[in-house]
Parts: sequence; structure tokens; C-alpha cells
Amino acid sequence: MGRRLPSTRVPVSVRALAAPLAVLLATSVIAQISPRDAARRARFLHDANLDAETGSGAASLAPATEAPAAFDNLTNGFDPQGPPFETLDEDTAVALRSFNDNRFAFEEVEGIADGLGPTYNAQSCRECHQNIVTGGASQVTVQRAGHLLNGQFFDSQGGSLIHSRATHPDAMELVTPGEPVRTFRISPSTVGDGFVEAIANDTLLGIRNSQPLGMRGLPVVVPVLEANGRARIGRFGWKGQHASLESFSADAYLNEMGITTPTFPLENTSSGRDVSAYDTVADPEDDGEDVQAFANFMRSTKAPPRGAITPAVTAGAQVFEHLGCSTCHVASITTAPAGTPINGGRLIVPAALGNKVIHPYSDFLLHDIGTGDGIPIQPTEEYAATANKMRTAPLWGLRTRNRLMHDGLSFTREEAIERHGGQASNSRRLFRNLGAADRASLLAFLNSL
Ligand code: HEC
Ligand code: HEC
Repeated sequence: MGRRLPSTRVPVSVRALAAPLAVLLATSVIAQISPRDAARRARFLHDANLDAETGSGAASLAPATEAPAAFDNLTNGFDPQGPPFETLDEDTAVALRSFNDNRFAFEEVEGIADGLGPTYNAQSCRECHQNIVTGGASQVTVQRAGHLLNGQFFDSQGGSLIHSRATHPDAMELVTPGEPVRTFRISPSTVGDGFVEAIANDTLLGIRNSQPLGMRGLPVVVPVLEANGRARIGRFGWKGQHASLESFSADAYLNEMGITTPTFPLENTSSGRDVSAYDTVADPEDDGEDVQAFANFMRSTKAPPRGAITPAVTAGAQVFEHLGCSTCHVASITTAPAGTPINGGRLIVPAALGNKVIHPYSDFLLHDIGTGDGIPIQPTEEYAATANKMRTAPLWGLRTRNRLMHDGLSFTREEAIERHGGQASNSRRLFRNLGAADRASLLAFLNSL
């Protein structure tokens, strides 16, 4: 199944992969990164072997059907619904048993005795992923910072993510002077992400190849952490920095909550300072079961549902198409057939997620529309091109969000569109020329998503 990527096809340099860490350590970088950061960075190397994930046999010939869509806390069929949610508590919930059990894990509030911190951002996944249902988006933002040296990006000490809470005042992480590259990133929705995970690599590359040159997106190749760094096209996060929900969950458990796992066994520092003495729970604090439960919960969620489809909404969908918005905000994508191995073989697409048509209004590729926050996926040569690009924000569920763009600093739909320059300049120009009626329909359409 595996094949090397022709370098013309995927511009994020797979060429740089052969000996990236060796090159890195050979340069002046060595003075800048601690053994801890080097270990973390090594975790993010991939094998450059990208599976097509297109499936085969009868399953791939069956007609695709619409993915179920609703904000109803009910399973899409990936896992059984399980015991009534209200009956579950710390003693009765069983991780991995059902949607409701895994939702319990996703909502569970962790404390110091569970290994929270020493630096962290919030106490549960739900604290940032909750609107309209558990797993959705929220207004919570996280803070990142770093600096440039000879044009190359360097994380702020201990990583570009700056934790905004700590279990002890002495462990509190502060942005140090000399880190002028800064951003906020707002919490996106994870609802329906099991379908996104089930999109084949080749489907995303196909979308890219169909885009006009000037608007072509960048597929980023990242490691599937649970598959020993097998290469896959990233699709989750504002930079597409992860390809699987299990990888993202392990990353979030450590980086948002300070809970270590077999994937990430080392605690975060506080601006490079070792503060592990403030957390006495033995590492890894989770044996990996919670991470699996979070991933399976998200895999079981239905897609975000549409609002009322009025004549204005239907007209607005046409305007969206005419302005070229749908070149990046792709309306319909079909997931890989059931039975297809994805995530480097660690997940077989189940019937509940396979051959489903979803309407994410994203190509899950990165674009330079002039809003790039300057912070790459990793401070390495391979990912340098991601610094000034962002993943096309999926517009499904847009009507549940009122702080827009990666930094949450656009208050209205129009303001978000006005920030589209670079590869989206032509769409913005056409938007500015719209008559009042077309503009109203476009907004009606956006507010139906
Ligand atoms: C402090 C708030 C916060 C907490 C707590 C948090 N997240 Fe997130 N989550 C975010 C932000 C912010 C992003 C976007 C990060 C980025 O791209 O830089 C994100 C992105 C994600 C994504 C990618 C979604 C997509 O479609 O792009 C997943 C999956 C996710 N989080 C899962 C989790 C899980 C599982 C937990 C619990 C272990 C968790 N998050 C805890 C804030 C949070
Ligand atoms: C070249 C690709 C491209 C085109 C064309 C494009 N967009 Fe976007 N869009 C993006 C990217 C990338 C983002 C995320 C930018 C960021 O967060 O900094 C985005 C973000 C958005 C958001 C904010 C969503 C959120 O959840 O915060 C809206 C709304 C939006 N686009 C609407 C449109 C509309 C309407 C059009 C057509 C007029 C359009 N876009 C054309 C790439 C594109």
C-alpha cells in the first residue's frame, strides 16, 4: 500500500525528511533546543510513506450515502449509545464501552490528583469543545509565541504553546521578552470529525490537483503517532497539524491539560524551566485508555446539521459558488469505503463512517490568504512553509460561532471575508462587487451552515 511521494505532487518537502533531526542538530539550533524538545520533535518525524487509502472490492463500488447530521448527543453508529448518560459517574462509567461512556471521559474534569498540570489550559476537553453539544466549538483561545532568527522560526522556550494556567503560582508560564511572533488560536468544533478522519489521502490530493494554480492548497504530511510515524495528510487543527483523532487527543491531553500518556510521557516545562516537581503523579498519568476514549467519542459524533433551507439560502449557495469560495470551502466530500485501512493501518473504516457524503465546506489544505500567524506546525525546515498558511476553516457549524478566523478576532461574517487576501483575493474582489440582494443571500447561506 505504501508509496513514496513524488516531490512534485506534495510541495511540503518530503525531501527534507531523510535526516531531518541530524541536520537540525548539526546547525546552531543545538544551542536552542533542550533534550526534552529534541525528543518531542523526534516524535513528529514521519516515514514519508503515504497510503492512498482508496479501498478496494465491493465496498468501494457501493453508492455513497449522506452522513447523519444532528446536534443530538446520539451516536452515528461508530460505537453503541450505551447506558443512559445521566446514570454514569466516575464509578459506573467504563472507558471505550460506548458513546455515552466516552462522552463521560471527554467531559470529565481532571484535578491535581489525576495529574493535571503543572502547566495547563483547562481541566476537561469539554471546557473548550462544548457548543452546541459536547465536542463542539467555544470562544476559548490558546496563546502561542516564538521568534525569528535569520528568518527561521523558533518556538518560545519549552514550545510555542504558552499555558495560561498552572497548579502552583511558581509554575506559571509567562511569555518571555523577545518572543514577538504571537497569536491566539480559538477552539474549533470536533463534531463530525470521525468522517473527516475517514477521508482518504488520495481524495485530499485529488482536491488539491483540481484547484487552479493560484489557489492551490498545501497538503501537509504529518506522522500518525499511534502508527510509529506513518505519513498521512494532516487535516485537524488550524494548521492541519494532525492526521488522526488519536494523535490529536494525546497531544491535547498533554498540551491543554498537562496529562502525560505513553505517546507523550514527559511533562511540559514552564517557559523551558523544569516544573515537574509541582506534579507528583507518576508518568504516564494516563495509560492511553482515555486518549482512545476521546478519539472514539469524536468518531461517534454526527456531522453538524444545516439550518432551515430558505429560497435565500439556496440563492446564496449559488453566490458562494460564483465567488469561488467553494474552491477552498469544498461543499461535498465522500469518505473512504468501509473496510479501508487508514491512519497507517491503525483504523479500519467502519460502515458507520465509510462511503459517506459530508458537507464540511473545507478542502483541509493550507492556504496563504494573508492571515498566517507566523507559527509553523514544527520549527523545522520541513514545516517552514506552514508558518504563513492556515487550513481552510470548515464552515459546517458556522451558525454556532460568532468569533471567527483562527484568532477569533473577526466579529462578523463580512469582516471574516474582508480578511481574505492572498490566494483568496479574487473571491474578496467579487464579494466587494456584489449587489445588496446577492450579499444578503450569501449571508443567509453562511448562516444556514
Ligand atoms: C484550553 C482549551 C482546549 C482544551 C482543554 C482542549 N482543546 Fe482541543 N482544541 C483547542 C484549540 C485552541 C484547538 C485548535 C488548536 C490549533 O490548531 O492550534 C483545538 C483543536 C482540537 C482538535 C482539532 C479539531 C479540528 O477539526 O480541527 C481536536 C480533535 C481536539 N482539539 C480534541 C481535544 C481533546 C480530545 C481534548 C481533551 C483531551 C481537547 N481537545 C482539549 C482547545 C482546547
Ligand atoms: C484560497 C482559499 C479560500 C477561499 C477562496 C475562500 N476562503 Fe474562506 N477561509 C480560508 C482560510 C484559509 C480560512 C481560515 C483563515 C484564518 O483563520 O486565518 C478561511 C476562513 C473563512 C471564514 C471564517 C470561518 C471560521 O470558522 O472562523 C469564513 C466565514 C469564510 N472563510 C468564508 C469565505 C467566503 C464567503 C469565501 C468566498 C467569498 C471564502 N471564504 C473564500 C480559505 C479560503
